[in-house]
Amino acid sequence: MAQTRRSSVAAADLLAPLTGEEISAAVGILTEERELGAKSRFAGVYLNEPPKEKVLAYKSGEEAPEREAFVIVLDGSNGETYEALVSLTQGKVNSWEHAEGAQPSIMLDEFDECERATKEDPEFREALKKRGITNLDLVCVEPWSAGFYGDDDGDDDKRRLLRTLVYTRLEPGDNPYAHPVDDLVAVFDLNSMKVVRVEDFGVVPVPQEKGNYTPEAVGQMREDLKPIEITQPEGPSFELNGHEISWQKWRFVVGFTPREGIVLHNVTYRDGDRERSVLYRASLAEMVVPYGDPDPVQYRKNAFDAGEYNIGALANSLELGCDCLGEIRYLDAVMADSRGNPLPIKNAICLHEEDFGLLSKHTDFRTGQVDVRRSRRFVASFIATVANYEYGFYWYFYQDGTIEFEVKLTGIVSTAYASPEESPKYGQLLNKEGLYAPIHQHLFNVRLDLDIDGRENSVYEVHTEAEPIGSENPHGNAFFAKPTLLKSEKEAQQVVDSMAARYWKVVNPSVKNAVGEPVGYKLIPHGNVLPFAQPESHIVKRAGFATKHFWATPYKPSELYAAGDYPNQHRGGSGLPEYTKDDRPIENEDVVIWYTLGSHHTVRLEDWPVMPMQYAGFKLQPIGFFDQNPSLDVPPPGGNGHCHHGG
Ligand code: NI
Repeated sequence: MAQTRRSSVAAADLLAPLTGEEISAAVGILTEERELGAKSRFAGVYLNEPPKEKVLAYKSGEEAPEREAFVIVLDGSNGETYEALVSLTQGKVNSWEHAEGAQPSIMLDEFDECERATKEDPEFREALKKRGITNLDLVCVEPWSAGFYGDDDGDDDKRRLLRTLVYTRLEPGDNPYAHPVDDLVAVFDLNSMKVVRVEDFGVVPVPQEKGNYTPEAVGQMREDLKPIEITQPEGPSFELNGHEISWQKWRFVVGFTPREGIVLHNVTYRDGDRERSVLYRASLAEMVVPYGDPDPVQYRKNAFDAGEYNIGALANSLELGCDCLGEIRYLDAVMADSRGNPLPIKNAICLHEEDFGLLSKHTDFRTGQVDVRRSRRFVASFIATVANYEYGFYWYFYQDGTIEFEVKLTGIVSTAYASPEESPKYGQLLNKEGLYAPIHQHLFNVRLDLDIDGRENSVYEVHTEAEPIGSENPHGNAFFAKPTLLKSEKEAQQVVDSMAARYWKVVNPSVKNAVGEPVGYKLIPHGNVLPFAQPESHIVKRAGFATKHFWATPYKPSELYAAGDYPNQHRGGSGLPEYTKDDRPIENEDVVIWYTLGSHHTVRLEDWPVMPMQYAGFKLQPIGFFDQNPSLDVPPPGGNGHCHHGG
């Protein structure tokens, strides 16, 4: 057993993800102690983080807190779900609980099993035959989460379901999304491994025009690109110690879970001789992609890619010179398959530095003296493939104390058929054969447990107001920033207002800066959007987190997921709407903020056949956290002479 962790470990190691050996050990202990049968599936095996107070108080050399695995078990014989805590330190099961009514996320092997079994189904085959499709090897059955659409679906919510979309290739290697076999859905039961029913809404043409995008398919490549090389002859400026990164004045742990992907832990900034806490934990807390077409197949496309699909488990193995350029360090991620075997993803996390243009510049125009500093940023990233789409998740650390989160969206739009005779209202025709892509949104929620110089923090909304003309504003020019303390969870629920220059800031009321104001960090929203689905719709009930851009809650370790622990087939109301229903106080508390980031996708012809990268994100920027620009000591490029001359 993994007894070795019991004794002294580095503080950062307390938060390191489970290793393959630890996953096997946890599954072994649990299987033996609970006498789990062959029908049991492991829907999640990952680190149960030690309590925050223990992590913060821990010093290397002391006895480490207990190392625990959190395990989700689906009993395939009765469809029931159980949650276990397994002590790796003591080699025993610490707790075993029935998760009433929970439907765990979809497991990777279930996708393959669903595709294989659906193709065997006689009714499904018959429906394909009606459409002239007989070569099953070329047919792609794409399992989508079933969601919840009300009681009209009979006892669907009592089963563990997937709903398939269907595509076909014209030959091996062909892009199947160019050839949707539309209006045909197989509803599949993952516990019985059988098609429950085939929904056939009528035969429509399968577009035949190819949509291939590889160099082989494209042919002539442009020939005027000269090489660009990024070299760091002395190596990168960061240190990697296990999962802990030290870069410039930043220090943090890069964790990884199957559900959230990258998790940042214990982010601190060294300010003189003070190691100042900024962020205890940052993670993707959920994401959902609602589609805007009321068509019987399309309206059910609402994938919760984190909570239903485990977006971290879908991480790519990254390749040097392709996904990241320069002096790269990688971390592997270890997932578990549904049998509880460790499933390593080589090079899942990319760690590197980037030149990011200018950090600051000033020319004294009287003397000609120039001062230039270049910005360097540290990047921790991973890319997940969720069927047709790719999501890249990037955390950036800057030398001026800023942290940025960016999602990069690429891959292939989800396609269907629409009559090429008219312009479709709810989407975009992609060719004259009726290839069509519906309008949709990508809504992400990021959970940020900020600890600004300690745990007790307060949250303010700040916007700018124009002063009406009057005795205080006789010339009509006056405007000012107005902070409002958000005292409770309900007060904190807000949406962006770019015309009012709204932002939110988290401050530590007991730590003051040089001008006597509390130190803080602000969340700067970039572009954003709200859901367009109606409040009564099932999708908005299930993704309640998306109805507000900003939420704040008092820290509670069990509150990690914006749409609740088990969004798969859930009726809704879970997650942030439930967490905040008692309107708990958040003033001078260990506060957690949650930000919903919407990326709106009105599909363009240029998105086909593979989408050029789209970007969405937000920044966390110090506001009175430092007494002045903290990056004055970043040396000018090429030493003190170059780019730094007098005239
Ligand atoms: Ni999109």
